[in-house]
Amino acid sequence: MAYRSLREFLDRLEGAGELVRVKDRVDPVLEMAAIADRAAKQGGPAFLFENPASGAFPVAMNLFGTRRRTSWALSSDDFEDHARELGALLKTAPPQSFWDKLKMLPKLGKLAAMAPKHVSSGASQEVVDREPDLRKLPVLTTWPHDGGPFVTLPQVITRDPETGIRNVGMYRLQVLGPRRLAMHWQLHKTATAHYRGYRKRGERMPVAIALGGDPALTYCASAPLPPNVDEYLFAGFLRGEAVRTVKGVATGLDVPADADFVIEGFVDTAAPLVREGPFGDHTGFYSLADDYPALDVVAVTHRRDPIYPATVVGPPPVEDQWLGKATERLFLPMLQLIFPEIVDMAMPVEGVFHNLCLLSIKKEHPGQAKKVIHGLWGSGQMAQTKTLVVFDDDVDVQDVSQAAWRAFANVDVKRDLVVADGPVDVLDHAAGHFAFGGKLGVDATRKWREEGGREWPEVCVHPPEVVARMDALYARLVPGAPEPRRPNIAPPKAASWTPPQGGNLQ
Ligand SMILES: Cc1cc2nc3c(=O)[nH]c(=O)nc-3n(C[C@H](O)[C@H](O)[C@H](O)COP(=O)(O)O)c2cc1C
Repeated sequence: MAYRSLREFLDRLEGAGELVRVKDRVDPVLEMAAIADRAAKQGGPAFLFENPASGAFPVAMNLFGTRRRTSWALSSDDFEDHARELGALLKTAPPQSFWDKLKMLPKLGKLAAMAPKHVSSGASQEVVDREPDLRKLPVLTTWPHDGGPFVTLPQVITRDPETGIRNVGMYRLQVLGPRRLAMHWQLHKTATAHYRGYRKRGERMPVAIALGGDPALTYCASAPLPPNVDEYLFAGFLRGEAVRTVKGVATGLDVPADADFVIEGFVDTAAPLVREGPFGDHTGFYSLADDYPALDVVAVTHRRDPIYPATVVGPPPVEDQWLGKATERLFLPMLQLIFPEIVDMAMPVEGVFHNLCLLSIKKEHPGQAKKVIHGLWGSGQMAQTKTLVVFDDDVDVQDVSQAAWRAFANVDVKRDLVVADGPVDVLDHAAGHFAFGGKLGVDATRKWREEGGREWPEVCVHPPEVVARMDALYARLVPGAPEPRRPNIAPPKAASWTPPQGGNLQ
């Protein structure tokens, strides 16, 4: 079910008891973040702050605060359903390479109807303000040492100056003045490439920033799609209905017709950069102030009754864990196109996405884990992953405790670590250089003889038929006992259990 407005999504949450309306006067400066952070860490509800202490509009927070809400936001019961559909769709695409397959997406059956549709008018332009003042927006200051207020859930829309292809990215924006924003698009991101393109051509760069509307569009701004795939096409796929766009009033960029707000302006690419930050980031640390381009805002349009969406960025877990989880599930089938041996992938919250990725593979030749490690370090935004740990396919990488046990047991640190230099996330404060540093690959698979392994022991597992009988007995002996958490380990190779024949005792 596609949402025609953020309000429609909030109505659904309210109907399900997942939204709390806040009548109290709460300040966007520090206070809203403190409440929403607590809710995000406890799987609490979404909030609609109806009386912000500053700014003229209500604020919605923690919209994506649970797996269930994020699934609903993506018009699904569970976002794993989308992953399955995407996997099936990609299998039908004829071209061999991953990128070719992605470029094919608009041509594939269902997706053809999902391409963004241009319309002549939209709710996002019901009110047009050509003398805008960003201070009317209830923009949050999250942490005490933040450099100022930051817009944290934007869809930043730019166009490649050469190809005209649209990009939509989620990059935080610092409010520097009534009509000025600092644009925190990082070095490796698509909008940065667009900015470089306009600068080279000596042209100013049009930018539109959409806020709100169907939350699927907000999610898509955070999704690591390749530069030549339109995020609003992907949003159309997720919501099962084309995204409707209207022409921006000042920039001419196509903007979502159903957004709550659209901020439009131009970056003077010949102008000096401006100081951005510090900002309490999703690493849990403050990112230091740095220099970024400034946007001169020339118009703000909005609905008659808009809602301003925001999120807390800070020490994990925060709300973005669910945006990240959706990305992990939705992008797994895409990764499996180039690495068919990959069975599953997990990005535990402690790794804040770019610091740690766990992968299980169906290993069929010596050195395969290292092949996957090197391959992923060359694949899109995965290239910035600092630590990759690869397991055999009988390890459930979603269970971090099980994965840690297997990794510590299976690794010979002299033989199984790949230590390399390469691009790291801009936010990696430990790296010796900006965006460049050390990376670690860990081969935690069973080692074959060709890889220097000796005879490899099996994991201890109770015989399944014994477990079934004893579980029934346990239920009688300990009524109401919780279901056991059992590691996802394949039973021993022998189909049925036979008693040991003396072994070491003889
Ligand atoms: C809440 C949130 C805030 C983010 N803030 C930034 C940011 O300030 N700068 C940035 O470059 N990426 C940020 N990201 C990550 C990007 O949105 C993500 O890498 C996205 O895929 C970039 O899109 P692109 O590939 O079109 O550049 C943020 C993600 C989330 C979920």
